[in-house]
Amino acid sequence: MRPKGIIIAIDGPTASGKSTTAKQVAARLGYLHINTGAMYRAFALLVHRSAGDGHDPVRIHELIDEAEIGFDGNGNILLNGTDVSREILEPEIALLASELSTNAEVRAKMVEKQRELGAAGGVVLEGRDIGTVVFPDAELKIFLVADAGIRAERREQEFERMGTHISLDELRWQIEERDKRDRERTISPLRKAADAIELDTTNTTIDEQVQRVYELAQGKMEV
Ligand code: C5P
Repeated sequence: MRPKGIIIAIDGPTASGKSTTAKQVAARLGYLHINTGAMYRAFALLVHRSAGDGHDPVRIHELIDEAEIGFDGNGNILLNGTDVSREILEPEIALLASELSTNAEVRAKMVEKQRELGAAGGVVLEGRDIGTVVFPDAELKIFLVADAGIRAERREQEFERMGTHISLDELRWQIEERDKRDRERTISPLRKAADAIELDTTNTTIDEQVQRVYELAQGKMEV
């Protein structure tokens, strides 16, 4: 057993329910929640602010060096000490994050930080490569999936709650675009680890998802 508990890895495609599940499971267990997608988005925000579209490898290399990405005590994402939780939700930042996440140098820096944050255990990490690359020895690996239409609807509702309207067609296109890139990239593509448990959230409520992962975690702690 690790000093602070087990490592729970939650991977899966865009809008499959990772963040909501990871956050609530972490709260119930008193564990740290690390949203690794937010880290890629924070870096994308930095690139967007200083270099624009992010196609200049030299500039990316410089920015990777100056980027300080982490979380505050409430799980908010910090970029060079400032909370950027709100800014990283912009769709253009999500698309840029997906582009930048194919860059080997960017991934190396993020993975190093994620390992540093999670190694002691007592942590729920969510992302695309947690169970396959970041913590292949995680005690519990979950792979969340859901129907693409449902995922677009969930994203639509999230944006509506924030007062932003984006059409369902546009959201579906964005989700499919990011998924395709995540699955097809050469480095750390999105895939289910051989020992991950797949949960389909198309027809389940958030409470059911959280309960299922919580029970699986309890089972691992008793081993
Ligand atoms: O999870 P979220 O949608 O916020 O992630 C934004 C983007 O960051 C994803 O589309 C994906 O390309 C990338 N990402 C990644 N590896 C992770 C987490 C996110 O490549 N572990």
